[in-house]
Amino acid sequence: MRKAIQFAFSFAIWSIVATAKYNPPLFHFETSSLDNDIVHSHNFQPRGNRQQKPCKTYPSDAEWPSKTQWDAFNATLSGALIATVPEASPCYASNANTSTQCDDLTKSWSNSSLRIDDATSIRSILFQGMTCMPPSYAPRFLFTRPNASTCSVGGFPAYTVNATTVEQIQRAVLFAKDQNIRLVIKNTGHDFGAKSTGMGALSVWTHYLKDTEYIEKYADSKEQDGYGGPAVKLGAGVQVFEAYALAKRYGITLVGGEGRTVGHIGGYIQGGGHSPLTSIWGMAADHVLSINLVTASGTFITANSTQNTDLFWALRGGGGSTYGVVTSMVIKAFPKIPVTTMRYNISTGGNFTQAKFWEAQKVYVDNFEKYADLGHYAYYRVRHVNGEIMHDMTSWVAPNTSATNFRASIAPLLEKWKSVGANLDPVIEEHDNFADAWEAGFPQEAWTWNMRQASRFFPRSVLANDTSRAASFDAIKKVFEEGANLIMFNIRNPPGSEAIDNAVNPAWRKILMFALMFVTWSPTDSVDYVTQLSRNLTYEWNPRWKALTPGSGTYMSESDYIEPGWQESFHGSNYPRLYDLKKKWDPEGVFYAQNAVGSEDWVMGETLLGHLPSQNSKLCRK
Ligand SMILES: Cc1cc2nc3c(=O)[nH]c(=O)nc-3n(C[C@H](O)[C@H](O)[C@H](O)COP(=O)(O)OP(=O)(O)OC[C@H]3O[C@@H](n4cnc5c(N)ncnc54)[C@H](O)[C@@H]3O)c2cc1C
Ligand SMILES: *[C@@H]1O[C@H](CO)[C@@H](O)[C@H](O)[C@H]1NC(C)=O
Ligand SMILES: *[C@@H]1O[C@H](CO)[C@@H](O)[C@H](O)[C@H]1NC(C)=O
Ligand SMILES: *[C@@H]1O[C@H](CO)[C@@H](O)[C@H](O)[C@H]1NC(C)=O
Ligand SMILES: *[C@@H]1O[C@H](CO)[C@@H](O)[C@H](O)[C@H]1NC(C)=O
Ligand SMILES: *[C@@H]1O[C@H](CO)[C@@H](O)[C@H](O)[C@H]1NC(C)=O
Ligand SMILES: *[C@@H]1O[C@H](CO)[C@@H](O)[C@H](O)[C@H]1NC(C)=O
Ligand SMILES: *[C@@H]1O[C@H](CO)[C@@H](O)[C@H](O)[C@H]1NC(C)=O
Ligand SMILES: *[C@@H]1O[C@H](CO)[C@@H](O)[C@H](O)[C@H]1NC(C)=O
Ligand SMILES: *[C@@H]1O[C@H](CO)[C@@H](O)[C@H](O)[C@H]1NC(C)=O
Ligand SMILES: *[C@@H]1O[C@H](CO)[C@@H](O)[C@H](O)[C@H]1NC(C)=O
Ligand SMILES: *[C@@H]1O[C@H](CO)[C@@H](O)[C@H](O)[C@H]1NC(C)=O
Repeated sequence: MRKAIQFAFSFAIWSIVATAKYNPPLFHFETSSLDNDIVHSHNFQPRGNRQQKPCKTYPSDAEWPSKTQWDAFNATLSGALIATVPEASPCYASNANTSTQCDDLTKSWSNSSLRIDDATSIRSILFQGMTCMPPSYAPRFLFTRPNASTCSVGGFPAYTVNATTVEQIQRAVLFAKDQNIRLVIKNTGHDFGAKSTGMGALSVWTHYLKDTEYIEKYADSKEQDGYGGPAVKLGAGVQVFEAYALAKRYGITLVGGEGRTVGHIGGYIQGGGHSPLTSIWGMAADHVLSINLVTASGTFITANSTQNTDLFWALRGGGGSTYGVVTSMVIKAFPKIPVTTMRYNISTGGNFTQAKFWEAQKVYVDNFEKYADLGHYAYYRVRHVNGEIMHDMTSWVAPNTSATNFRASIAPLLEKWKSVGANLDPVIEEHDNFADAWEAGFPQEAWTWNMRQASRFFPRSVLANDTSRAASFDAIKKVFEEGANLIMFNIRNPPGSEAIDNAVNPAWRKILMFALMFVTWSPTDSVDYVTQLSRNLTYEWNPRWKALTPGSGTYMSESDYIEPGWQESFHGSNYPRLYDLKKKWDPEGVFYAQNAVGSEDWVMGETLLGHLPSQNSKLCRK
């Protein structure tokens, strides 16, 4: 009965919209925007002075806006301006009974859900200078800070605009520009490169831009290749788990990340965005149909396949915090598909020696081409745990595949593993839709802060060749044996995706394996040890992987904070065009983030451990 009504209802909608050309209207929060006159008046002010300032303006500078100016600015925002109070400050308050609050913060510090709801908390706090950590996490090695009884705003932005309208975002961009203040954008704060923080900055917080709309039949106005199927429009603050809930509700599939609390429309999709569905459907950025954004001039515009097409190209893979503040995107939806997942743990011990472990791993990696070409994706880790090797398959995902077919395709691997002595108890589940498979297969990940990583794409040309595959395998194993841990993806981009005209790193189109190495330490480790560990990643270990993969690259959103030659690694042949567009759309450098397009024209004044640019220092022109 209920089904029949639903069917009749959706049929009725279908027949209405099938004949109507449908371009989604603005979200309510996008309807209040500044008059063009106001925007223009800011851009036509004499600006020679502003442009020549060697550094951004900081609270210690005479030019820093007065309290009166901040109050006036706040009034134009209807009171949405927040002065930064670091999240862990209750741990440092002397005049209150704060111990319970501090205990709670300390216990939950790695829980992203809670940190995301704070205006300025971020994951990669190391590069921010670790200002105001819960005391038991404050690293002894990093700081000359005398004791843990002080907490300052430090590397966090000075103020945040808690945006709920486009007008507030425009005003924030214009204020930062007029006052020569560093501007940052925080969505969720997941970024591994601390790209959503910065000392003395004004931050635009997009977290509450949560609007969503399901579009049964999108009507791209372009005559040829105009897409006319289902789509969704998502506000900038929508997170992966919310996007998937929407998809489930409407019986569609969205290409999105595995990370539960990552922002769908922020750094994720603008950086390219890989997905458990990438081996069949490519990158998340490949399916963007339209983008609304506030540019560096403070103007609110739409970029799509017929309007502002250069920005439309750049925002699909060129990276966040570079060309504007995106307020929403329309993205293509796919039909509902069945999905099979497998999870397992393998660890060394007893008669399953480390040699046997690597033998088992080799058999697996030897077949990466086969699995990726079946459309599979796998995301797993290999870690040092108390002298043993722990290998946990977070999830191996087989989209549009039944459990029966999946079992058949991996039977030879499981046979071989059995004969090598790998002891595992795989959990294989079939779901009739992606959202449920993802829900079961990808638990929420912890936000870790005592960590550094580096990464590399291994292309098909390298892995299909027995000799170079063996050399790659050995290089990965060696880095592990010298102290790193591994995060591995078996993933490809589907045939034809190399022809898509967007700014996704061309090296993505050729891969079969995306490998990351990471190191961790304890707050009590010595400065020399942590420095050497960190330097090993960049200067000793990752170069070996690079040498085996000439012309390949890596993923900007999961890379080394100080990736040498990042322009080539993150963007390949797209870089010159991305840089020209940066100069065209943001000539004054309103937007900046670590290793974002155009950031080579700027420098942070101080380093941490002698080699990591500190976001807790001044940003100056080179
Ligand atoms: C636990 C975890 C799981 C992950 N899983 C995946 C995955 O499955 N696939 C994948 O591809 N990546 C994954 N990532 C990496 C992820 O894509 C990046 O961390 C990404 O930068 C997060 O974007 P965000 O908007 O959520 O975070 P933020 O840190 O808030 O923002 C990241 C960058 O984008 C900018 N930005 C944010 N919003 C906007 C906007 N509206 N307009 C312009 N710029 C903006 C910020 O200024 C910053 O530079 C994961 C990361 C973590 C920590
Ligand atoms: C902005 O105004 C609101 C409401 O008037 C106020 O609560 C808030 O504290 C102000 N922000 C700052 C930074 O003064
Ligand atoms: C202060 O916090 C401690 C620890 O949680 C608690 O035991 C104590 O009752 C609190 N005191 C007051 C006055 O609230
Ligand atoms: C993280 O916090 C959220 C929101 O409070 C909560 O639902 C979740 O259970 C927490 N996760 C963990 C691992 O504690
Ligand atoms: C640590 O801070 C406390 C409180 O401010 C102060 O009394 C103490 O002298 C400080 N200790 C050191 C070693 O600086
Ligand atoms: C930010 O704005 C949202 C939406 O209006 C509100 O719910 C939230 O409390 C605000 N957060 C802060 C810290 O002001
Ligand atoms: C691009 O956006 C503009 C403005 O909303 C619209 O008029 C145009 O039809 C859109 N182009 C496509 C291809 O949909
Ligand atoms: C793998 O081990 C972890 C604990 O380390 C456990 O939580 C998880 O359930 C295990 N997964 C499987 C599939 O056995
Ligand atoms: C390894 O030991 C287990 C018992 O711990 C045994 O069942 C298995 O047969 C042994 N395998 C080999 C290859 O010796
Ligand atoms: C899923 O697989 C079926 C065959 O099993 C095929 O007909 C269909 O096109 C596939 N769907 C997608 C979206 O690839
Ligand atoms: C395989 O790789 C090796 C080492 O890089 C190279 O010398 C050889 O020419 C490659 N073979 C083929 C068939 O490409
Ligand atoms: C750094 O790497 C070298 C090998 O290249 C190794 O001998 C040394 O132990 C490593 N140090 C740390 C702290 O990882």
